[in-house]
Order: sequence, then C-alpha cells, then structure tokens
Amino acid sequence: MSIGDSQASTGAVLLTNIGQLLTLRHPRGSDRPRRTTEMQELGIVSEAAVLCIQGKIAAAGPESQIAAGMKAFDSQIETFDCNRGMVLPGFVDSHTHPAFVSPRLVDFEKRIQGSSYEEIAKAGGGIRSSLEGVRKASSEELSANVLRWLERMQKSGTTTVEAKSGYGLTAESEMKSLQGIRCAAKKWRGSVVSTLLGAHVVPSEFKGRADEYVDLVCNEMIPKAAQEKLAEFVDVFCERGAFTLDQTERIFECAIKAGLGTRAHVCQFTPHDLSTLARFKPASYDHLDCLRDRDLEALAGQETIATLLPGASYFLSHSYPMARRLIDAGAAVALATDFNPGTSPTTSMPLVMSMACTQMRMTPAEAISAATINGAHALRLGRQKGTIEPGKDADLAIFDVKDYRELCYWFGSESCRATVLNGSLAIH
Ligand code: NIG
Ligand code: FE
Repeated sequence: MSIGDSQASTGAVLLTNIGQLLTLRHPRGSDRPRRTTEMQELGIVSEAAVLCIQGKIAAAGPESQIAAGMKAFDSQIETFDCNRGMVLPGFVDSHTHPAFVSPRLVDFEKRIQGSSYEEIAKAGGGIRSSLEGVRKASSEELSANVLRWLERMQKSGTTTVEAKSGYGLTAESEMKSLQGIRCAAKKWRGSVVSTLLGAHVVPSEFKGRADEYVDLVCNEMIPKAAQEKLAEFVDVFCERGAFTLDQTERIFECAIKAGLGTRAHVCQFTPHDLSTLARFKPASYDHLDCLRDRDLEALAGQETIATLLPGASYFLSHSYPMARRLIDAGAAVALATDFNPGTSPTTSMPLVMSMACTQMRMTPAEAISAATINGAHALRLGRQKGTIEPGKDADLAIFDVKDYRELCYWFGSESCRATVLNGSLAIH
C-alpha cells in the first residue's frame, strides 16, 4: 500500500439520502483502466446509501437494501445525511508538486507581458528560482506547506494525492522534501503516494554538466529514496531545456534496479518518441500536449496511462492536449491538477475537469472516470481506489449537486460538502 497512508478508520460510517451515487463499477467487473466508451459508464444508482466499515466500503447501492441489512448495528454507526446530493469516489490527483515554499509571482507577471515559460526558465526564473527557498527550508516547514495543500485539495473532493519532490535538486534537499511529504501524509487522513523528481531540471551548479547531474540522481538520490522507502516512483521532466530521452532512459534503468516505479513528464513543449520508454512500462506519461500521430497510436496500445493536465495549458496559455483523439484511439486517459507554483497553481480537480470538458471536449462522464478510476491506475492503485465497491478503500466525495454533470458545469465554485478518507468522515 502507499507510503504515508493514514491509518484506516476503525469505525463505521453510513451515508444516507444520496440522490445520485456514482459507483464507477465496471459493468462487466473488469479492474482494468477505462478506455473508449467504458469512460462513459459511471455505474449510477439513484436514492442510494453507502456503508463504510473499518476504512473499507462494506456496501453501496439502493438505500432500501442497505438500510434493511443493517438494523443490528445502528447505534455504533456515524450517519451522514447527503441531503439528496451526489456521491462519487474521492478524486485521485495523480500528479502534484506540493513541496515548495513560495508562489512564482514574478514569472506570472512576465508571462502576462509576453515571455514564454521556456524563455523565463532560460533567464534563471522557472523551476530554478524555486530551489533556494526549499534548500533553506526545514523539513518541518516543507511538511506544514504540503499538509496545507493536501487539506486544500480535500476541500475540492480529493482523497488520494501523488506528491513529487523536485524543488531542492541536491540529494539532501530532495530527501528533505520527501520526508516533508511523508510527515504531512501521516497527519492527513487521505492517501499520499510519493515520487522522487530529482530530474526536474539541471540546477545551475551543474550548468554544462547535465550528465554528471544525472549521475547524482542515479547514484545518490534514487538509492537513498528507495532504501529509506521515501518514494514509490521516479519521475523525469523529459523535455527540451530539462532532460533528454537518453538521460531519461538512464534514470529509469536505475529506478527499476532500485525497485521503484517510473513515470515521466513528456511532450509538454516538444514531441518525443515514446516507443523508447515503453520497455520500462511507466505507470503514466504526463502532459502530452504535443503528440504526433504515431505516438498517439503507440500510446493507445500501451498499459501506461495518459495523464492530461489542462491546468498547465490554461495557466501557460498553451494548446490543450488532444483528449478526444486519445480517448477515441483507445488510450486510458487520466486527469490531474499538476498543482505547482510555476505552471498550474490550482488544487481543484473539479476545475480541471471543467477545463477538460470545455477545452478538450471530454464529456463530464469521461472527465469523472479520468479523475477517479484512471487516476488510481496511474498510481497503480486501481484495485484499491477509484470506484465505490465492497472491499475497496472508503474514499468518497459528497457534492451538493443533483446531477453529476454539474460538477464540470459550475466552474470555479466548489460544492464539496464532505469527504470520507480511508473510512473517516470529514465535514467541510
Ligand atoms: O508539470 N514541467 C515540469 N514540471 C512542472 C512545472 C514545474 C514548475 O514550473 O515549477 C509541470 O508543469
Ligand atoms: Fe508536473
């Protein structure tokens, strides 16, 4: 199970009076990532209830059936009246960068005045300008920041978060960031999966010596993170101005050797031949804003999840990924916030889902599948999270809306009333 998972609740929680329950149960019982028309199937039950016991879903379905089966324990159960609202699996935000210290307001204004993300990065802004704050910060300070962001995400219905390091870029400050994430995860009732992103950019002290920096990632950061069980995945920003495909391969080889999973930021600004990385079976390719036809077809046949991050396209005024073509070709598409101070300072999955609908022509049902079960698969948690079925983790979001399409319709205003995180009820 994931690093930093909070203790599952020992009690019982019953959600009653649910107007619309989205179970996301697969109609034929498959536990694979959802593709093509499967992404439309939300497993809707009207007038429903959900019973959670000891952190797991015990029963979910029509309220009349659930209520009839549980008279015996009534008094020990914490009951929450959903007031005819909608309940769905808690969102799985499978791509975030919360271990930073300050927002990047200067970059923000420079972009408004016409500079591009890459130009700002070349001039010393961008990721490199976030390093000093993290290097100077204590692990406690980073942990407090991460916890604040996790709580903010929860307010929008997120119950599982992937959290990356990547703003320290020395062995010491990357481990400190991962420790900060672990410490925050222990204080949060949701689930956190940690990722080492030592290969975010080449820090200035290694300017012109990128391969030596890759050695540091491979020989120090990855072994340390694996030994101390501080990360489950290794990520690389494989992009012009960051790391090449060859360097990404080297880093992935080390990650696999150390027993860690792989994932990569790819094709955000420039296309890359993804067939080279296929042998590593990455859990996810993220961004994919500029895919070529042949890469799109290759992706459709792979197990690797295509994680799309419209928040970054919005904030950088970039083109959006071709979600429609990816889904229609058969790729398993997930959505995530990419929460970070440079390209996507949002913690809201509903906002991202709304962008996916209006800017990428995903349907609300596809956006919901992408933000729940396919996000869970992007973290290799498809068996535990992302649907509401007996035996799965009791991670739920309760929204004050009647129809699931409203989630993507009312953009920028949150209506998440409560969450259940590993069986524990939090009223917002
Ligand atoms: O996913 N592309 C690389 N990483 C982040 C940006 C991080 C930053 O600018 O601070 C992203 O967009
Ligand atoms: Fe990112």
